[in-house]
Parts: sequence; C-alpha cells; structure tokens
Amino acid sequence: MLDIKLIDFPKILDQRGNLSFLENNSQVPFDIKRVYWIYDVPGGEKRGGHVYKQNQELIVALSGSFDVILHDGKSKNRISLNRSYTGLYVPNKIWRQMDNFSTNSLALVLASTYYDKEDYIYDFDQFLELVQ
Ligand code: TYD
Repeated sequence: MLDIKLIDFPKILDQRGNLSFLENNSQVPFDIKRVYWIYDVPGGEKRGGHVYKQNQELIVALSGSFDVILHDGKSKNRISLNRSYTGLYVPNKIWRQMDNFSTNSLALVLASTYYDKEDYIYDFDQFLELVQ
C-alpha cells in the first residue's frame, strides 16, 4: 500500500472566522523553497501527470476540492482534498496527477526545490524504471 501522509495544520477557531498556519520545518517536513498555486481550472481538466526526481511537495485545497492521484510504481491511491487545514505530503519519486477540480477551487502547493524543468519525468515507463 502506498504510504499517504496527511498533515493537519493548527486551527484557531474564533467567532470572527478560522485561521490556520504553517511554519518552515514545523508543520512541513522539508525546507520550503517555492510556493505556487493552481486556480481557475476548467471543469474536467487534469494537472500534473508527472514525477519529480527531487522535489517534494505539500498540497492544500485552500478552497473547494480536487483529487490527487498518487502512484509509487506498485500501487495507486486517489485522495480527495477539501479542507483548508489539511496538507497532503507528496514525496519525490511519486507519480502524481490532480483532477476533479470543483468550481473556484484553489490548490496551494509548497515545494522543497526551486523550479527546475530537468527535475520532471513525464513518461510513466521512465518513472517505473526509476523506482524499480
Ligand atoms: P507544470 O508543473 O507542468 O504544471 P502541472 O504539473 O500543474 O500541470 O507547470 C506548468 C507551467 O508552469 C510550465 O510551463 C512550467 C511553469 N512553472 C514555473 O515556471 N514555475 C513553477 O514553479 C511551476 C510549478 C510551473
């Protein structure tokens, strides 16, 4: 079975609304080098569909919902994210794709490396060779 790590961030509940936070090396199991976000995804669209050789990520559904499909070369898991206080940890060398985005969903992604196109593998067979 693929090891899925969901991280719940602190949640400060208040009559004025909720507040969550994360700090480098505390709630996040790596040094954050980069943050990006995915939004305005048209219905039925997919994102990802690749693996990173080095980059690790933490994915949060800040708004709305979407699914993350993870594959470690042996087994596959679909995780639905819909809480703004829960992050999905995606280690390097794990194939990942995102789909089923709800209207107005907002995916926040914290990354352990700076953007490097050489870190991507887009070919699933090449990914299998890497992990086997
Ligand atoms: P990509 O990582 O392929 O998106 P996804 O995995 O969600 O389908 O990135 C899409 C484009 O954005 C690609 O041209 C590279 C660029 N990009 C950056 O310049 N910096 C970044 O940090 C990211 C994530 C992407």
